[in-house]
Amino acid sequence: MRLMTNSVAQHYGNDGIVSRIISALSEAGFDIDNLKPDVFAGADEFHIGGRKGSEFVAKALDMKSGQQLLDIGSGIGGPARFIANTLGVIVEGIDLTPEFVEAAVEITEMVGMTEQVSFQIGSAISIPFDDDTFDASTMLHVGMNIPNKGLLFSEMARVTKPDGSIVVYDVMRTGEDDLVFPMPWSSTSEYSFVDTLDAYVKAAENAGLELLTVDDHAEMALSFFSNPPSDPPPVNLGHLMGTGMPEMVANAGNAIKSGTISPVLLRFTN
Ligand SMILES: C[S@@+](CC[C@H](N)C(=O)[O-])C[C@H]1O[C@@H](n2cnc3c(N)ncnc32)[C@H](O)[C@@H]1O
Repeated sequence: MRLMTNSVAQHYGNDGIVSRIISALSEAGFDIDNLKPDVFAGADEFHIGGRKGSEFVAKALDMKSGQQLLDIGSGIGGPARFIANTLGVIVEGIDLTPEFVEAAVEITEMVGMTEQVSFQIGSAISIPFDDDTFDASTMLHVGMNIPNKGLLFSEMARVTKPDGSIVVYDVMRTGEDDLVFPMPWSSTSEYSFVDTLDAYVKAAENAGLELLTVDDHAEMALSFFSNPPSDPPPVNLGHLMGTGMPEMVANAGNAIKSGTISPVLLRFTN
């Protein structure tokens, strides 16, 4: 397990994330001493749909201002900052990849949100918090790196208060074709564990969660990969992941178009 988690972090981790993003913003004419959270959106929301995906999650969470949210596999913190701003909640993010956690902390300081949002290194299958700590938990595009969905859901259930909501927005398998690697979540098939909706729901129900809704966002995903924005944002996932990103995006786009994978949002109560 140790080797596996190291390899997942090796896939994502790379040096110079914040300096690449800041250079691009500076070149695009932004005042780098006065950056707002939204200008990072092209690079800090690492899931299908970008901002739209974070909006789906914020809406599904159904939280009250001041409540505490855990974001599992928080990346460089885009969803956590967006949800904190949108819902007025306090967000704690955990992630396996040290370079992502460092970048998440640095960007959060730059945009003046350290009172609402914090990050630490931590594993989804051994969450570093006590039982019943959070009013709600979420996870965006992380389960594809985790073979043991049962352990993942039992950890989410453990740290979330009774009746709290748990929202998962993951890439799931919807067809039989082989996946072509590299994918955005893994360089090789060895660390890719894309599962079906059935496997997710069984694992969650075994952990005691009750499924409330299922939303397959296949149509949004098709448009996300087929119609790039006519006015591209100043930063993008290439600034986050480096030069390999276009090939990963192309492979993911092809798998979406062939119906082999789809981003699905699941809403549970604990
Ligand atoms: C595709 S990125 C999504 C990041 C973020 N949720 C977002 O939507 O912007 C997947 C993230 O999951 C993290 N991750 C993968 N496996 C993990 C695990 N077992 N525990 C914690 N984080 C994990 C990776 O380090 C990476 O930051």
